[in-house]
Amino acid sequence: MATVIDGKAFAAGMRQRIRQAVAQLVAQHALKPGLAVILVGENPASQVYVRNKGKQTVEVGMASFQHTLPADTKEADLLAQVAQLNRDPAVHGILIQLPLPAQIEQAKVINAISVEKDVDGFHLQNVGKLCAGEPSLAPCTPTGCLLLLKQQLGDLAGKHAVVVGRSNIVGKPLSLLLLQENCTVTIAHSRTRDLAAVCRRADILVAAVGVAEMLKGDWIQPGAVVIDVGINRVQSEGGNARLVGDVDFAGAMKVAAAVTPVPGGVGPMTIACLLQNTLLAACRQHAVEIPQNL
Ligand code: GUN
Repeated sequence: MATVIDGKAFAAGMRQRIRQAVAQLVAQHALKPGLAVILVGENPASQVYVRNKGKQTVEVGMASFQHTLPADTKEADLLAQVAQLNRDPAVHGILIQLPLPAQIEQAKVINAISVEKDVDGFHLQNVGKLCAGEPSLAPCTPTGCLLLLKQQLGDLAGKHAVVVGRSNIVGKPLSLLLLQENCTVTIAHSRTRDLAAVCRRADILVAAVGVAEMLKGDWIQPGAVVIDVGINRVQSEGGNARLVGDVDFAGAMKVAAAVTPVPGGVGPMTIACLLQNTLLAACRQHAVEIPQNL
């Protein structure tokens, strides 16, 4: 049986270290990191995410600023809100919750965020820096995956990582992070021929496709480490909704060395990494040394 990778516990440990680092920044530099989150509209899943982000931001001792705008907000008004947060010295990180309503051009507002405050790592300049291997703010979910892999495997050099999914939020940035760790990286996707055979060559297999339980146990190389980024709501036999990942968890547990569960695997890591990015951003903006305990 494989090890179940406990992302929930790992994220709790990270938040604890972040809390200590924040206390140190406040005491030594009078610097209280602040995170602003903008939610446009009333998407219920987004409302839950935004609420959790605010709660955890406050729990680690940072300042939380939440801006909820109506669903029919004009692009110009959102841009004005972003510009105001860019200027606000109490705000070190800005996140615009996605998806945005159709009348707003996503790329335009993301690229309006100050590069230094772009804690999602979605600004084109941060994407470019990540690609070039320069210090940047890296997207949170891929960073969380990488931390779990390093905790499980130590040095990742020479490992063959297969990332299934090529989204801008997960697949592409995670592939770049793994390349930086000297993995051999294959990016697979919906048009990949014989996907099962490609997956079977992976020492590290990452599923980020958004299709419930698509990757089966016999797609996994014995001893591989499996990271499941999927969060899919399915009806169970009893009629209740339950969450499953992109990997057939029971099948994977019979073959892999270690697997992230859904929920409780990658999910909790995302907000922990967002808080870490906010801390990093605040330190960089004030030219303060990054606390060592992180
Ligand atoms: N919606 C779903 N995932 C994300 C994310 O990582 N960042 C933002 N801003 N919105 C999201």
